[in-house]
Amino acid sequence: MIKILMVCLGNICRSPLAEGILKSKVNSLEVLVDSAGTSDFHQGDLPDSRSIQIAKKYGIDITDQRSRPFKISDFDAFDIIYVMDKSNYQNILNLAKNESDKQKVKLILSEINWSKSTEVPDPYNSGEKGFDQVFKMLDEACAIISSKLNDAK
Ligand code: 4NP
Repeated sequence: MIKILMVCLGNICRSPLAEGILKSKVNSLEVLVDSAGTSDFHQGDLPDSRSIQIAKKYGIDITDQRSRPFKISDFDAFDIIYVMDKSNYQNILNLAKNESDKQKVKLILSEINWSKSTEVPDPYNSGEKGFDQVFKMLDEACAIISSKLNDAK
């Protein structure tokens, strides 16, 4: 089983969407998907209501998720750690124990050849439009990730 962790800052806006979207595209018996935040600001909280709404609009329920902070043991528990932006990338790399840990960490948009951006922007202080844009970026990235996982089988 391949284990994938989605990481953002609060684990209430972007990474819960990334978790829900990828789960909707893969066979849960073959791929385990989880998410975490680089902070514990929202530990135990539901995803942001705007993330819940946008996921629902596209037929995905993320209300079973609760925010949790990233922990060092996640490096051993997961095969790939997808981060949303460069700040998450640096924060997670700073916690890596060795080279093997570091190699697990990837910017999620590096999976798509997208000239527009290499980062999924933090939508926390944006309106609904920001969440729609984030959903579309993550949907595109997760489509590529799931097809790569299928090819790897
Ligand atoms: P996320 O968005 O990293 O996509 O979950 C944020 C949520 C909360 C905060 C920052 C970003 N915050 O500072 O509380």
